[in-house]
Amino acid sequence: MQNEQNFLQEFEQLFGRKAAVLAKAPGRLEILGNHTDYNEGFVLSCAVGFGVTIAIAENGLDRCRVRNPEFAPGKEESIDLNNIGAAIPGDWTNYIKGVILELEKRNIKIKPFDALVKSDLPVSSGMSSSAALETGFCFAFKELFGIELAKEEWARVGQGVENIYLGLKSGLLDQFSSVFGQKNALILSDFRTVEVLRTVPLPEGYFLIVVNSMIKHNLVDSEYNSRRAECEGAAAKISAKHQAVKTLRDVSPALLEECKDDLDALEYKRAKHVVGECDRVKQAINCLDKNDIATFGKLLFESHESSRNNFENSTVELDYLVELAQTIPGCLGSRLSGGGFGGITIHLVKADAKDTYMNAIREAYKLQTGVEPQILACEIGQGAIAIKLEK
Ligand code: GLA
Repeated sequence: MQNEQNFLQEFEQLFGRKAAVLAKAPGRLEILGNHTDYNEGFVLSCAVGFGVTIAIAENGLDRCRVRNPEFAPGKEESIDLNNIGAAIPGDWTNYIKGVILELEKRNIKIKPFDALVKSDLPVSSGMSSSAALETGFCFAFKELFGIELAKEEWARVGQGVENIYLGLKSGLLDQFSSVFGQKNALILSDFRTVEVLRTVPLPEGYFLIVVNSMIKHNLVDSEYNSRRAECEGAAAKISAKHQAVKTLRDVSPALLEECKDDLDALEYKRAKHVVGECDRVKQAINCLDKNDIATFGKLLFESHESSRNNFENSTVELDYLVELAQTIPGCLGSRLSGGGFGGITIHLVKADAKDTYMNAIREAYKLQTGVEPQILACEIGQGAIAIKLEK
């Protein structure tokens, strides 16, 4: 609360007027269901208790003024709503411009505004800092300009920014989790019907720890897009013989084995990962319903193995973190989370072992790689919100 007051005061000092709306959008953790979203499959995910905060007000000028002091200290960026232009590589304002363009496509016009942004999320690490920024601006605009869209459509606006403005063919998971996250619960989402099927509480006495490997490969976007194309290629070949199959979501593990000879080796491996992940999500729900945390944890380890061998979206650093998880007491399961090719691992840890676990994994990783990992104990948070402030 105190932080919020300071943030709002900072807005007033910078722009000479009070903020009209405060919006917050969380980052997310993908718990299980890796690269299944764009295959219309199932994902178990959650929002985290921190993310992006935005203070915003109309400014009556002919352009928008935006500031993100941690990202660009002391710098005011300007956005001309009549001349937004193409995305500029590495520019954080791309995410705002993209949202404005996506809304224009829906015949929604934004008026000039001032905005102050802060984010507690590690950038480009698998916790969806970009989706939180997109979702945060969606909700800020929604409240400031009274825009009515269905919640899933807001998630699509954010996805459109990635897919069209930035050229990353990502699925809907990140924005969807940031919009639909439920406090203290995992959400099970179906990306064919685009809905939250149900929520599942994380068992009491366990904690989700994030360990950021701090290493990100620079070909992430092109690798991501090629994985997607390989999955779609595999689905198309299976569909040629089995017309009920539209995407890999429709392929059972048994059907995949039956079709193995129709696929090339790479397509088979990619499909095996996605089909396996959908299956593991279903198994995980059963385990959580029975409070069988040990088997749930094993599914996380299996998911990582499949990323490593089949989807090839792991790295030596991520593999090492998951290997450590198997040797340090207190951890039931661990895997890479998000797109992969670097970034974070998640660790399901007994609450009473949390502190010793965090220290042990920090030391071991540092010793092996020379890099200090970022470690976050994550509360499960609520999805995005925006509130009108008093004048
Ligand atoms: C990234 C993408 C998501 C999803 C995950 C992998 O986070 O943005 O759409 O595909 O990778 O599950």
